[in-house]
Amino acid sequence: MSSAVLIEKKKVKNPPLNIHYLGDRVLRQPAKRVAKVDDQIRQLVKEMLQTMYSRDGIGLAAPQVGINKQILVLDCDPNNPDNQPLVLINPQITSVSKEFCVVEEGCLSIPGVYLDVTRPKGIEVTYKDENGRPCKLNVDDLLARIIQHEIDHLNGILFVDRVNNDLALTKELTKQGFSIKAVQKVA
Ligand code: NI
Repeated sequence: MSSAVLIEKKKVKNPPLNIHYLGDRVLRQPAKRVAKVDDQIRQLVKEMLQTMYSRDGIGLAAPQVGINKQILVLDCDPNNPDNQPLVLINPQITSVSKEFCVVEEGCLSIPGVYLDVTRPKGIEVTYKDENGRPCKLNVDDLLARIIQHEIDHLNGILFVDRVNNDLALTKELTKQGFSIKAVQKVA
């Protein structure tokens, strides 16, 4: 099947978009729904993918590049040229598994910080792809993990907000020069 945003997975020295970091208020604003998936959106998606690959990421949400739109790109196997990236526009989690798991997460907006987060193991998600087609996915494990992490970004939530181990959280953030005050604990 052809895709409108086929992209070479190559790294560029100067990615087209700048990443915003923990403490920047753009990361805390809820993103707006995309009304129409047009060429402008596809161009943005392409630039998000180029930026994600160049920064060695496996997922990127539009708010991380300062754009207040419900758009995610992800690739759970970025070094495999045959693995197509996923583009999720206006994603909604429609169900979650009863089973939870603990996995270490990181984020391009919080470089150098890796901490355990508990989340549902599997999810069902509905979204539009880069051609505006409605899609539904049932996924587990790494893919479910990335999608949940990225959807959090669309709601102004960062993975550090979900970390239970306060001691490790403070230690790791401080070590990388971030302020613990930038964390907004999820109830
Ligand atoms: Ni992130």
